[in-house]
Amino acid sequence: MSETVERWSSRRAFILAVTGAAVGLGNIWRFPYITGENGGAAFLLLYIIFVALLGVPVMMAEIMIGRAGRRSPMMALSHLARRAGATPHWRWVGLFGAITVFFILSFYSVVSGWSIEYLVSAVNGSFASRSPAEIGASFDAFLADPLRMTFNHTLFMLLTMSVVAAGVSGGLEKLNNLLMPLLYIILVILAVYATTTAGFGQAISWLFTPDPGAITAGVVLSAMGHAFFTLAVGACALMAYGAYMPDHQSLTRAAVSVVVLNVAVAILAGIAVFSVVFTQGMDPAEGPGLMFVTLPIAFSELPGGAFWLGGFFLLLLLAAWTSSINLAEPMVSMLQGAGLKRGQAAAVVGVLVWAVGLLSVLSFSSMADVHWFAGMTFFAWVTSVPPSIFLPMGGVMIAIFAAWVLPNEIAARALDTSPGGFRLWQGLVRYVSIPLMVVVLLSGLL
Ligand code: PHE
Repeated sequence: MSETVERWSSRRAFILAVTGAAVGLGNIWRFPYITGENGGAAFLLLYIIFVALLGVPVMMAEIMIGRAGRRSPMMALSHLARRAGATPHWRWVGLFGAITVFFILSFYSVVSGWSIEYLVSAVNGSFASRSPAEIGASFDAFLADPLRMTFNHTLFMLLTMSVVAAGVSGGLEKLNNLLMPLLYIILVILAVYATTTAGFGQAISWLFTPDPGAITAGVVLSAMGHAFFTLAVGACALMAYGAYMPDHQSLTRAAVSVVVLNVAVAILAGIAVFSVVFTQGMDPAEGPGLMFVTLPIAFSELPGGAFWLGGFFLLLLLAAWTSSINLAEPMVSMLQGAGLKRGQAAAVVGVLVWAVGLLSVLSFSSMADVHWFAGMTFFAWVTSVPPSIFLPMGGVMIAIFAAWVLPNEIAARALDTSPGGFRLWQGLVRYVSIPLMVVVLLSGLL
């Protein structure tokens, strides 16, 4: 397959697209609940350490491979491996990435469907006149209703796949340009609002006073997995976007700015969620339902609640949308590489992912007692194992390829930094990121 000719139209468009991929349910839905389940500040601290030591260098490695290969991830890897005189079997890393995003997108669409449901309910004011017990019960009733969930899941898949089918400049760029700035505005308003609530002080100390005793191998593994998940690293999804990155754009600057913004969004979302949780004396370790149960209860008792809640779910939906189009990209570009037209590839991926998503939908009703793996429902498995284990595994392989296999001159040219910057990046990946990922993965798995 020859080089892709599509390019992002500007530097800004590329940064917006990568930010759009990174900022999503991971920052706004998953970060608060997983931080809650893992004890708060210690998890946050580990997450920030992993983002700095692994997220930045491995993200650079991944985008760099895409830019050097200028093909779909599988094709880019086998093409570059050949040029490096290595085995073309490296392309299976691209396939592994496609499998990873396949599973992630399947639950991503279901949870995004929850936010469609909740956006509509918030705007209708359905939460305003209800007691906390009624609101909690209505989430359970929603989960137990596979038809309603399937409807929302289907709607979200259609939204995603129609943008993906429209292509890089026609679809992805326009959506990103339009939505991302709006998202930050809503988030800042929500965080400012949180400072006026009674639980704000408690939320801050819970998020920022680490308890070293809370750190276990499992917590460390989840924190590392979450760093990969939230940065969209490890599944070749950013590699697919890197293929469209213009020459002569600093990859370092792009990666650092995306990472900083991404962490800032997670912390702002955490402050917004936990301030309200503590104001209402609720449990931070509530699980995946955390924001869907606690926020409507909390906001319903606060002035202007319906408005803020609607804003929150709108934000979540927009963020999820720009991430889901990135999740689809490795699969779609892979099928395009196999000869399908973009629209056809999007349709095939959409239907398959949608079908597997139904297993997540049913995990709360008819399949609630079906244990997919180690006593977990399909939903519990798919929201933990692919993000916490598959992504870091992909990250290790991508990092080894970029820092050990790819010849220096190819890597340095695609990274586009100074010689000193290149050596720093390579040293960090070789001697810090790779060993750290391997140690955490092994200790977490054993
Ligand atoms: N980064 C996205 C989020 O935080 C999820 C994602 C993971 C997107 C992997 C692309 C690849 O929600």
